[in-house]
Amino acid sequence: MDKSGSILIVDDDEDILTAGRLLLRRHFAEVVTCSDPAQIPELLNGHTFNAVLLDMNFGPGESSGHQGLTWLSRIQEQDPKLVVVMITAHGNVDNAVEAMKRGATDFVAKPWQNEKVVATLSAAVKLHRSRIETESLRQANRALKDATVKPQTIIGDSPALRSVLWVIERAAPTDANVLVLGENGTGKELVARELHRLSARADQVFMAVDLGSITESLFESELFGHKKGAFTGATSDRLGRFQAASGGTLFLDEVGNLPLTLQSKLLSALEQRKVTPVGSDHSQSVDVRVIAATNLPIAELHDESRFRQDLLFRLNTVEVTVPPLRERPSDILPIADHYLAHYARRYGRDISGFSSSAQQVLQEDPWPGNVRALRHAVERAVILAGDSVIQPEDLPVRREQTPQPAEDDELNLDELEKETVQRALRKHSFNISRAARELGLTRASLYRRMEKHGL
Ligand SMILES: Nc1ncnc2c1ncn2[C@@H]1O[C@H](COP(=O)(O)OP(=O)(O)OP(=O)(O)O)[C@@H](O)[C@H]1O
Ligand SMILES: [Mg+2]
Repeated sequence: MDKSGSILIVDDDEDILTAGRLLLRRHFAEVVTCSDPAQIPELLNGHTFNAVLLDMNFGPGESSGHQGLTWLSRIQEQDPKLVVVMITAHGNVDNAVEAMKRGATDFVAKPWQNEKVVATLSAAVKLHRSRIETESLRQANRALKDATVKPQTIIGDSPALRSVLWVIERAAPTDANVLVLGENGTGKELVARELHRLSARADQVFMAVDLGSITESLFESELFGHKKGAFTGATSDRLGRFQAASGGTLFLDEVGNLPLTLQSKLLSALEQRKVTPVGSDHSQSVDVRVIAATNLPIAELHDESRFRQDLLFRLNTVEVTVPPLRERPSDILPIADHYLAHYARRYGRDISGFSSSAQQVLQEDPWPGNVRALRHAVERAVILAGDSVIQPEDLPVRREQTPQPAEDDELNLDELEKETVQRALRKHSFNISRAARELGLTRASLYRRMEKHGL
């Protein structure tokens, strides 16, 4: 058995300390004992313990449990993540209950049963590890946030965008679940981040999960975590996204792509506010604010053969649709200017703006790829521009052809009609009746067309 974990035992009864040391050394990597609680602060400074086994009373005649409670809070102040298990005298469960209300995780009653003590402390060590892991994930996430996602402003002042911003301001502080709809590249994730930034959870994690890219077999492990050995390849315990996001915001991206079977698993986690790691018997409470996004049109979300309606109602307490760029053309230039400055700085290019013809090209484009495509187009133009002003040639060529002028259209239609009539005649060896029937014309009108085309 590989021993790991470090335990501190604090009790004024030397017999307890000796018995504890002998027992626990067989199960844990390190066991430190101490008979004087006044030494606790110093011991915690010099060591990293996973758990403390703490007596409730020190000194002869003490049975109130006050000392235990006082030391419990001292320990919590010094190291809030440390797991504390109380030792209580037999029959003194009230004290233990009080201690647990104040943050101790468990208690063992004297005289203790060896198995019970070992099991309790093993669980305590695990709990401590997961607290540390959660904390480091949070820190990593926070660091990442600071480094990369400096609160990015949502650019644009069109009425359509302003009403989106209005909803964000209203919904953000309420903790209500928000469903963000909109085409690809319209800024759904940006909206989700803004909702988080303006919420009471702003200092906590913003955890994004792309539900569109999680395989069905890994869904539960990814979202709810797993225990070591739960399945082949589960070599250690793993924290789920729900637990890691606890206290903060969980952004469920591409929620519309979730298969129905997984939709029910997600729904029950949201309803119960609890998740059970794969391979575990115990559920864990989670406190997350959920923001979901999808590029599916709302009609498809209301199609119950595709999306569970009870899940939809859970997600869309507030619903906000980010309109496509073509419906807010007045946002195009401000966004383009913003990214021009951004990329000119990044690539060290001295570019002052767009020529007026380039501005016109930008504004007339339908931007099917929305803001993301516009941003890329501007980045590319900044790199390619041969001048200090961006010209239309620097912008991507529009792929769809502009419609032909009207006269050409008529010509084409005429051409087409002539060809079709010829083909029908040839097919039926110039049998007028059959050719006319195939074309859905009367004999007389087929004659008229033959005449018109000189056939
Ligand atoms: N109003 C805006 N102002 C500035 N940048 C924006 C704006 N809207 C979107 N962007 C930028 O456009 C890009 C795409 O935005 P985002 O990723 O939020 O879109 P999305 O709707 O989530 O797209 P998808 O559906 O493809 O996931 C990002 O780089 C984002 O910063
Ligand atoms: Mg997105």
